This record gives sequence, structure tokens and C-alpha cells, in this order.
Amino acid sequence: MKKNLNTQKKMKSLGQKIVWLTCYDYSFASVLETTDIDLILVGDSGGMVLLGYEDTSPVSMDEMIFMCKAVRRGAPNKFVVGDMPKGSYEISDFDAVKNAMRFVKEGGCDAIKLEGGSNMASRVRAITQSGIPVIGHIGLTPQTSAQFGGYRVVGKSESEAKELLRNAQDLEASGVFAILLEATPPSVSEELAVTLSSIIFGIGAGPKTHGQLLILHDLLGLYPNFRPKFAKCYIPAIMEIFLENTALQEDLTRYGKETRRDGLREIASLAVSKYVEEVREGSFPGPEYSY
Ligand code: KIV
Repeated sequence: MKKNLNTQKKMKSLGQKIVWLTCYDYSFASVLETTDIDLILVGDSGGMVLLGYEDTSPVSMDEMIFMCKAVRRGAPNKFVVGDMPKGSYEISDFDAVKNAMRFVKEGGCDAIKLEGGSNMASRVRAITQSGIPVIGHIGLTPQTSAQFGGYRVVGKSESEAKELLRNAQDLEASGVFAILLEATPPSVSEELAVTLSSIIFGIGAGPKTHGQLLILHDLLGLYPNFRPKFAKCYIPAIMEIFLENTALQEDLTRYGKETRRDGLREIASLAVSKYVEEVREGSFPGPEYSY
């Protein structure tokens, strides 16, 4: 069943970790549909891992919608968040609402995510007032990272930590239901998670957030160009069990060729399930995957 806003808030209040993963196409979405993942992000990171762009800057609204539609077809029962690409929301509230609406009406998304803090308060207010749930994204924000010194941990100094809190408070006052922290020190993330009433998700933000996000292609070890410190590849952890299970499926007549769980689909499913398990029990991210 789809984990809607109420379910996510309840999970937060019960201390149950919420597990989020990116996805960009039908095949992998149909794998996620069969797992216990709570949320899917159709991230503009798809521009890099799926489309081969060097960074996320060139990603267009049409490309995002194309990916969202495919993901929705593969995962009809998951809460899908569409990621607003660079240039689709910064210019005006009108643009922001128009493009957020495309994510819902054309892409089949349940919510949108956008990068920025206090500077995006007006956009967040306009989108939420149009009835679309919004997730804010602060800390390292890839779309504007060049302006802030490239890909780096954000919030190490006291002034940066205070600024993060201010940004998060402004986002909350503008109506977000959740905030994603990217590449922030675990102590700062924890402070935000206890101070704010929004759901706090983290990617590279330590273990104390209410939920975790990973990039699917990092989890599967599929992206060759760059893997940040927090990105755990789950393939080594499940290979043995995959091989054992496959060996048990020798009898083709019993399983049928179509339903044999002997390929990449099964490997991906086991790896995603292991990620879900580790987040739920609190063992991911440990210190080796935190800043
Ligand atoms: O596009 C994406 O996948 C993201 C994550 C890097 C947080 O925004």
C-alpha cells in the first residue's frame, strides 16, 4: 500500500525509519514495487546515471516527466517524488507551480522535491498552496554546488550549521512536509531532526535522521564516474545468498523459465531489500558511510 503523508508522519512519530531510493525507469521501478521501499525519488541524478550528462544542469522538464512516467508504470503502489530540475522553479512562483503540476498530472508523482532553503520559501508556499506536497533539499545542493565551492560537506562550521537550521525553519514555515539533508555532519543532522517538526531525510547526513535516501545506481555499483563516501554498494553483501538461491532453482519445470529468479532483477531486489533492512534496524549508515 502507498505510504502517504499520514503514514510517513506516523512512522516518524513511532521512530520507524523511512526508506527512500532513487529510480528512473520501468524495469527497476518494477523491482522496487516488490520490495519494502517506502518512497521513490525520480531524481535529476537520472540525467547523469541514466542519460550520461556530466552533471544535472542540462536535465529538462520533458526528460524528468519521461522518467517519472516510466517509474509510475513500474511502481503503481509506491509514493513517488519528482525532482524539479534546474531552471524549472527558480525564476517565478508561476513557473514553479506550472512545472510541479506537470510532475503530478503527467508524471503521476505524489510530491515534488526542490533544492534551496530560505531563498525558495516563496516557491514552496506557492506549490503547497496549489495542493502539491513539497520536500525541501538543503546542505549540498548539486544544482547550485558550483556557487558554494563544489561538492563538499555543508554545516561543519558553527555559522554554516546555524544557516542550515535557519533554512530548514524557513522551509518548514513555507509548508514543506519533509526536508532532505545532503552531506551534512551527523551531529548537525541530528539537531535538525529533533528541533523541527518536519520529517528529516538524509543522504550522507548520518544515522539520526527519520529516513534515508540512496541513489539506486550507487547501491547497485552501476555508476562508474563517481561514488561519494556515503554511497554503499550492497552487491557484495547479497552475492552469496543469490548464488545459493539460484543453485536451488535447478528444476526448471518447477519454477518455469519466466519466473526463475536467476538474473540481475533478483540481484537488484536482494540488494534493495538489504538496504531496507539495514536502515530499518539502524545499522546503515554507520561511521564509514558518514562524514
Ligand atoms: O537527484 C537526486 O537523486 C538527488 C539526490 C542527490 C539527493 O537530488
